[in-house]
Amino acid sequence: MTIDPQEDPMAFWEDFYLTKRTSSSGRATAALLRIAAGLQPGRALDLGASHGDDVIWLATQGWQVRGCDISETAVTRARVRAAALGLEQQAQFERCDLSVALPEGEFDLITALYLQSPVALAREAILRRAARRLRPGGHLLILSHAAAPPWSREATSSTIFPTLAEELAATGAPTSELEVVAAEVVRRPGRGPDGTEAMLEDNLVLVRRHAA
Ligand SMILES: C[S@@+](CC[C@H](N)C(=O)[O-])C[C@H]1O[C@@H](n2cnc3c(N)ncnc32)[C@H](O)[C@@H]1O
Repeated sequence: MTIDPQEDPMAFWEDFYLTKRTSSSGRATAALLRIAAGLQPGRALDLGASHGDDVIWLATQGWQVRGCDISETAVTRARVRAAALGLEQQAQFERCDLSVALPEGEFDLITALYLQSPVALAREAILRRAARRLRPGGHLLILSHAAAPPWSREATSSTIFPTLAEELAATGAPTSELEVVAAEVVRRPGRGPDGTEAMLEDNLVLVRRHAA
C-alpha cells in the first residue's frame, strides 16, 4: 500500500473511516484512564477524536467533553454512539481541521491521543496552540506512537514518529506558565490484524498550566 503524503487530509481520513476503520473499538485509551483518574472532572477537548471512545468515557466520568475530528463520518458515528448512551449533552462532537484552528474555548484537559497522520498535519503547531488553551491548573495529555507497529510498517511508512524530546518541545514546556508533570516512553502490549503480538512503545507527555 502506498500513501501519498500530499494527499488531501480530509479525503484521506474519510476514506480511512469508510473503508478501513468502520466501527468503534468501544474501549477508551488505557493511559487516559490512568491519568484522568487523578484529575478533577471539568471541561475537556479531545483532538482527533475518531469514533469518540475517549470522549464518551470521559463523559461517563463527569467531564463535559468536546471531540473534534477531520472526518465527518467518524464525527457522525461518535454523535450517534453518544446519543445512544444518553450522553449527547456531556459528549459533543464537531468536524474540524486542526491544522487550521482548534475549537473555541479553554479547557481543564486537552487530549491528543495518537494524533498522527501519514498525510499533512500541522502537529507541532496544534500541540503548541493546545497548550495555550489550558485553563489555570489544566492539563494537556499527549500520547503518540514512538514507532510503527511491526505489522503496519508499510502502511504507515509516511507517518512521522516523534521522539519524546520533540513532543515536549512542541508544547513549549517547561515555561513560567507550563510545568512538565510526566514525559516518558511507556510500553504496552498490542495485537495486529493477523493476531501477531508485540510490545509497542508510546511517548507520553503530560503538562500542566500553573494555577492562577
Ligand atoms: C491515528 S488516528 C487516532 C484516533 C484516536 N485519537 C485514537 O486514539 O484512536 C488520528 C485521528 O486524527 C484525525 N485527524 C487527522 N488529521 C486531522 C486534522 N487536520 N484535524 C482534525 N482531525 C484530524 C483523523 O481523522 C483520526 O481520527
